[in-house]
Amino acid sequence: MTTFVLATANPHKKVEMESVLSALNINVLPRPSDVPDVDETEDTLEGNALLKARALADATGHAAVADDTGLFVDALDGAPGVISARYAGVGASDEENVVKLLSMLSGVAAPRTARFRTVICVAYPDGTSLSVEGVMEGSIGAEAKGSNGFGYDPVFLPSHAGGKTLAEMTLEEKNATSHRGNALRSLAEALEKR
Ligand code: IMP
Repeated sequence: MTTFVLATANPHKKVEMESVLSALNINVLPRPSDVPDVDETEDTLEGNALLKARALADATGHAAVADDTGLFVDALDGAPGVISARYAGVGASDEENVVKLLSMLSGVAAPRTARFRTVICVAYPDGTSLSVEGVMEGSIGAEAKGSNGFGYDPVFLPSHAGGKTLAEMTLEEKNATSHRGNALRSLAEALEKR
């Protein structure tokens, strides 16, 4: 049976990844606590996901899976992009990042089009790797609405969601069309073909 190590320590992402991988008969191991975190020094999601997966594959000798996500806003030339987690500064809270995003967009007329992108990378011990991506198109609302989810969910209005933000949706509704859900579905397809 193939074994994959997960780079993420986020419990919510672990559950999502485990359910996809175990359906493909892949045994999933958690990130070993003695492997240090990797600095995300690349300027693309692909680069950072590969850095994280490769470090873990080299350290464990198993195939390793890592993901990286960003929010790309057209009126801001793609910002916050790869620095979405630290847009308002290193260690910024989700709320501080949302406040900064709304202030950067003040005066920009609707629709303020944007998309979430998730890249998932698998690095193999033989030095090869594969990457897949998932996208969700939408726009940034005028104010934060809803209390579900995390990150930029309260200001992200998915296209075709009738004006609801992601934070006003259930997790099931979000996952059915989300960037991470789409990336996981592509991962399952890519692994089946390999
Ligand atoms: P990560 O690569 O998954 O850690 O995501 C980087 C940053 O993007 C997070 O800190 C969040 O601010 C944001 N983000 C990622 N996924 C989502 C999402 O599904 N909804 C809202 N924000 C997200």
